[in-house]
Amino acid sequence: MPSATRAGAYLTVDLHAVRANYRHLRALGGVECGAVLKADAYGLGMAPVAAALVAEGCRTFFTAHLDEGVRLRTLVPLDATIYVMHGAMPGAARDCLAHDLVPVLNDPGQLEEWRALARETGRVLPAALQFDTGMARMGLAGADVDRLRQDPAWLDGLRPQLVMSHLACADEPLHPINLHQRQSFDAVRALFPGVPGSLANSSGVFLGPAFHHDLLRPGAALYGIHPQPGGVNPLAQAVSLAARVVQLRSIDAGDIVGYGARYVAPGPRRIATIAIGYADGWLRALSGRSYAYVDGVAVPFVGTVSMDSITLDVTGVPDERIAPGQSVDLLCAQQTVDDVAAQAGTIGYEVLTRLGSRFHREYIGL
Ligand SMILES: Cc1ncc(COP(=O)(O)O)c(C=O)c1O
Repeated sequence: MPSATRAGAYLTVDLHAVRANYRHLRALGGVECGAVLKADAYGLGMAPVAAALVAEGCRTFFTAHLDEGVRLRTLVPLDATIYVMHGAMPGAARDCLAHDLVPVLNDPGQLEEWRALARETGRVLPAALQFDTGMARMGLAGADVDRLRQDPAWLDGLRPQLVMSHLACADEPLHPINLHQRQSFDAVRALFPGVPGSLANSSGVFLGPAFHHDLLRPGAALYGIHPQPGGVNPLAQAVSLAARVVQLRSIDAGDIVGYGARYVAPGPRRIATIAIGYADGWLRALSGRSYAYVDGVAVPFVGTVSMDSITLDVTGVPDERIAPGQSVDLLCAQQTVDDVAAQAGTIGYEVLTRLGSRFHREYIGL
């Protein structure tokens, strides 16, 4: 990681905010609250985030990839459960077992893979079963449910300890698919009396108690992303980002700025170039559409976002406040992850998970 004096940009992760968000979600659900730490805890850093959540009492974690689970296993207490959501992919079963990871079984092939290992080791292996309730992405399908109904021995050698599904439109509370998915999930759960169920991701937690079941499975909301766009975000912002000024220049009317000559100065302008670009996850789609903040005052992006730099119109900002080496804010009280996502035409998840590796990172509350 670059030192604070050498970095082009500083990322600050507030672990107090992550912890507060975890407590908020757990209190809202009134049931166990797990945490999704895939993609390096959505870009915030798996190790510090895991430590913060463990301190809050979290003992159930989800990763997407096997190797994320292997890493997480070294970071959480032995009694913590780690589910690998991509499951027992071909060739992965043995490593899941070796690292005490529970695969989420998503299709008959994964189920058979895990059962084969159970037979080979003479053990009954724990498993999570994921059912597709309408998203057609991952999970056992309707025909598999029929087979399970007719032939419960299909699970011989396995001990299901979680039944789960995933919501397609939880961030749209009025979308009819939410109710449809919940009813399908409740129907399939009835086949597994006594086995805990989990349906709610972050937004699902805000759909009400009928969606909470036994275990909440939030990722984004832990990291401050607004779970139900519109209205006030009930969660605390966990990330702030500032980038340093590399260079300042004055330009005249008619001068162009940046690749593609997309910005033509309408009059004399002062331009600041900052040391962050799309290689750091500050998306090219933000060209001409986003802002940096200098002491809380917005200065617009002008021209095209480059790989390593962005040009700002800082006309009118006092010289003593905008000199090379000084920093401007990109994620701050005035501009949240969700704001930046909206400017780029994407979602906060993508903004966070693309945060680059060239930042100097600081963790508050480590
Ligand atoms: C199966 C599953 N569960 C839970 C989550 C967490 O979702 P969110 O970040 O919206 O809380 C994800 C994230 O994509 C997921 O794929």
